[in-house]
Amino acid sequence: MKTTGSIGRRLTLLLAGVAALLSLLSWGMVTTLARQAAERTQDNVLAASATTIAETLRSEQGEVRLELPYSAFAMLDAISQDRVFYRIAAGDALLTGYDDLPVPTAVPAPGQVVFDTGVYSGEAVRMATVSRPVVAGSQPVQVTVTVAQTRHGVGTISAELSRVAAILSVAFFAVAVGLSAVAARTSLRPLNEIAAAVSRRGPSDLRPLRRDAPEELAPLMTSLNRLMERLGQSIRRSEDFIAEAAHRVRTPLAVVRTQAEIALRSVGDEAEKTRLRRIIRAVDESSRSAGQLLDHATVAWRADDLARAPVDLAELAAQTAGALEATAAMKDIRLHLDTAPARVAGDAVLLENALRNVLDNAIKYSPEDTAVRLSVRTADGEARIAVSDEGPGLGTGPAEALTERFRRGDNTEGIVGSGLGLTIARDVLTAHGGRLEFAPAPKGRGTCVSLVLPSL
Ligand SMILES: Nc1ncnc2c1ncn2[C@@H]1O[C@H](COP(=O)(O)OP(=O)(O)O)[C@@H](O)[C@H]1O
Ligand SMILES: [Mg+2]
Repeated sequence: MKTTGSIGRRLTLLLAGVAALLSLLSWGMVTTLARQAAERTQDNVLAASATTIAETLRSEQGEVRLELPYSAFAMLDAISQDRVFYRIAAGDALLTGYDDLPVPTAVPAPGQVVFDTGVYSGEAVRMATVSRPVVAGSQPVQVTVTVAQTRHGVGTISAELSRVAAILSVAFFAVAVGLSAVAARTSLRPLNEIAAAVSRRGPSDLRPLRRDAPEELAPLMTSLNRLMERLGQSIRRSEDFIAEAAHRVRTPLAVVRTQAEIALRSVGDEAEKTRLRRIIRAVDESSRSAGQLLDHATVAWRADDLARAPVDLAELAAQTAGALEATAAMKDIRLHLDTAPARVAGDAVLLENALRNVLDNAIKYSPEDTAVRLSVRTADGEARIAVSDEGPGLGTGPAEALTERFRRGDNTEGIVGSGLGLTIARDVLTAHGGRLEFAPAPKGRGTCVSLVLPSL
């Protein structure tokens, strides 16, 4: 599967992008507002200073007089250490101050302040100008007072505020990125939980997923459940089909067997009898194979919804051995039973089926006049039924491969079988949380197949 990026990363990146934009915007706004506030403060003080000076103007013996009030400059000093200039002129004539200070762009009406920005002695200055008519002699003269101040203070204050704003913005951005990552992970968690729930399931668990999911994931859950339902249905259909087919094959086979037995009794010729016996044996094996097909379908069917009743393995072993006693006797094989108490939780029918297949193999592949041993033990929380024979062994290949469906070993010459026995045994054990183990028999000859289950 090719992955195309990550939703989590994309979400984080998107949120981080928004955070970066907001940080930049807020930094820009704070910087602008700080600059404006600093400038407004300077303007207010300049205006107050110019007005204070203008108010001290008076006329004395036909001349305009003024006393520069100390307070007018003191307040300018208070906001910054910037240099201060002033110019007081009656009409065009300079009364006092710096004559070369830039002239205001407009003459302010009485009670109004005109602000200007200009350059004086190589530095940027902010100027406030007020004007006031003063009666000197016969007619009033318009006296203008201009107070100017360099702008280093304003620059410093706004630069400092802008720096603080920048630090805060970066901090905000960092926190926002962290939170975005957390948010992305949190919002994707339900998806991961569903994935984990699906992958935790056993291979044949097709029950619908019953868990709470966020609204956005509901369609996914619904279609997943529908898919599983359809899959389950089609598996069930094919299992039903196999079971039905096996059943239909077995019925006529039973008829053939009966007829062959009747014929066997009535013919006298030895060669005919041998031929009929061969037919009966082949029919028996075919019937068994058909039975195994049926068993296989049953196992797959029951393993989905496993019963968990206590099962006594010693009893189970005795029962199964009893059922195969006759088959063993036909080959003069002795069945030895050696059991200790062992209990597991599970489906007795399935477990019996698994053991029967393993024991059947032991009898089937052993030479005549040998022994097959069945032992039941519990150790380290595990119950174990071991079936050992004195047969030819499992051959050279990996033993696990023999559990594959329809897989038969290379030692089966002349022995009829379907290759399903070990598959059934393994499936039953897997469904019970157990396993099938293969080893050489303890006596150096033959095979030991063990059914291992979690003990109760
Ligand atoms: N006890 C045994 N001794 C020797 N070979 C065995 C034994 N049990 C199983 N096998 C090998 O494992 C193969 C698979 O077994 P199984 O699935 O029961 O299929 P089948 O018995 O129908 O051939 C057999 O064909 C045989 O080669
Ligand atoms: Mg078999």
